[in-house]
Amino acid sequence: MAQLDDLRKQISLVESDLDEGLLGLTDQQTLETFRIEFLGRKGRIARLFKVLGELDADARAEAGRLLNALKDHANTAFDKCRDKLQIVTLEGRITKEKVDLTLPGVYRSLGHLHLLTQVQQEIESIFLRMGFDVATGPEIESEYYNFEALNIPEDHPAREEWDSFYIDGSHLLRPHTSPVQIRVMEQTDPPVRIICPGRCYRRDTQDATHSPVFHQVELLWVEEGLSLANLKYVIELFVREFFGEGYKMRLSGDFFPFTEPSVQVHMRSRGSSDWLELGGAGMVDPAVLTNVGYDPEKVTGFAFGFGVERMAMLRYGIDDIRTFLINDLRFIEQF
Ligand code: PHE
Repeated sequence: MAQLDDLRKQISLVESDLDEGLLGLTDQQTLETFRIEFLGRKGRIARLFKVLGELDADARAEAGRLLNALKDHANTAFDKCRDKLQIVTLEGRITKEKVDLTLPGVYRSLGHLHLLTQVQQEIESIFLRMGFDVATGPEIESEYYNFEALNIPEDHPAREEWDSFYIDGSHLLRPHTSPVQIRVMEQTDPPVRIICPGRCYRRDTQDATHSPVFHQVELLWVEEGLSLANLKYVIELFVREFFGEGYKMRLSGDFFPFTEPSVQVHMRSRGSSDWLELGGAGMVDPAVLTNVGYDPEKVTGFAFGFGVERMAMLRYGIDDIRTFLINDLRFIEQF
């Protein structure tokens, strides 16, 4: 009997150790170690079962019952504890990983197109709507496309107007977009209706209105029966589309070897008295049409070349052309 009493004490010790221990558990891994300590093959409960063999028959039945009850109790307690911990872990994850949809979003700046690119794309879309195609050409150009084909022979004093950067004896960085006209007309039969946007280079000293690198948009329309009146209409339409209603434009006489007659295009806002030059224009000189194999008796054409920076400066009130190039974010981010 003494043995049985002793066993009873040990059973209740194991039971209270187990119950207390389980209360303090917070994670499933410790739970498993704890379970092995009690229910493992060599655990505390298994060790108690070993005592059975030493008991006499009467005591053994009772001891067996008590030990089995302890084992059942332990199993149920562990299962309960495991379920409880699973729920706790899950709830923890749910709180931790919860997305609060009412929080304000996090803004990430993606950057945007440079003002000059925006303006150029806008000009392109205006002319695309009017039925023009966009054509491009090389920035390193031969003297032929840049000058001769445009009716500016060697030694012609007008070449000085396009003071250029030469790459070698006969190639230069194009000082205007007009050579693209020639390249397109050589490849296409009339009618031709194109605009040619692009970068140009001149040996100009940099100041508020001059830059050795700048952008032009050239326009060319060649077809039967075109006149200066059509040119004026196209420019007026474009100015209204790009600048809006508050502007006036004016044509005045000028000279370019590749146009005859040639005009200068000026514009001003209605409130102002200052006329600002947009660029040059004119009826394509018959000699240019002949150079590309067109018959000047059958077709006529007109062209203009406007500065893209100039247009942006007029529209946004920018007073220094250098601002386009210095990459000052305070400027760039305004547009
Ligand atoms: N190519 C001229 C320039 O850059 C502009 C122009 C283009 C003039 C087309 C008339 C016709 O100065």
